Amino acid sequence: MQLFLDTANTEHIRHASRLGLISGVTTNPSLVSKEGKVDYKALVKEICTVVGGPVSTEVLSQDAEGMIAEAREIATWAENIAVKIPSTLAGLEATSVLSKEGIKVNMTLCFSLNQAVLAAAAGAAFVSPFVGRLDDIGEDGMQLVVDIVEYLRYYDIPTLVIAASIRNTSHCLSASRAGAHIATVPYKVLLQMIEHPLTDSGVRRFAEDWNKVMGNAGIFS
Ligand code: G3P
Repeated sequence: MQLFLDTANTEHIRHASRLGLISGVTTNPSLVSKEGKVDYKALVKEICTVVGGPVSTEVLSQDAEGMIAEAREIATWAENIAVKIPSTLAGLEATSVLSKEGIKVNMTLCFSLNQAVLAAAAGAAFVSPFVGRLDDIGEDGMQLVVDIVEYLRYYDIPTLVIAASIRNTSHCLSASRAGAHIATVPYKVLLQMIEHPLTDSGVRRFAEDWNKVMGNAGIFS
């Protein structure tokens, strides 16, 4: 499973990229707003220089014509842009047009298998089921990822599943077990994925055992 970072924070993107962990970035208008009043185009262009993989950038229009116009413009900002379009009727119309033009679309705000089936039929490169938001309303968000992955595999459809609205490390674990192609994770969750108390105590014990016998000697002395 590939990891994308779900943020518009360039410091966090730079750090995760330096660690060599992320293959792409997803943003949305809420995440961009968290960075204050920014120049959207400049911010996205900067992110696209830091990360080689797809950078999902959302349209703001809610009608097909507006979405198409915005997406065409956004797609010129960098080679590695994927345009995020909501899973609505207007979004499907826009996705059908844009995917035929070779523009990569990430159909976002996906909350049902039916929406994913339609996203794939419209030619979306990615579909993003929102796991955490389904959990929030008492549904099983990860089951949707399982269902979409199974459907796409069964018909050998090339649309990639991005497990989105990931809130914790258990979500990452379940997304990888479900066979999601990608999980887009918040920075905090990405850092938590490496943590394990037995790793920390193991590192401490190795150092203590060595020091008891070798004192301060390093490997080469
Ligand atoms: O990837 C989508 C994500 O940004 C939404 O997450 O936590 O606002 O549901 P959340």
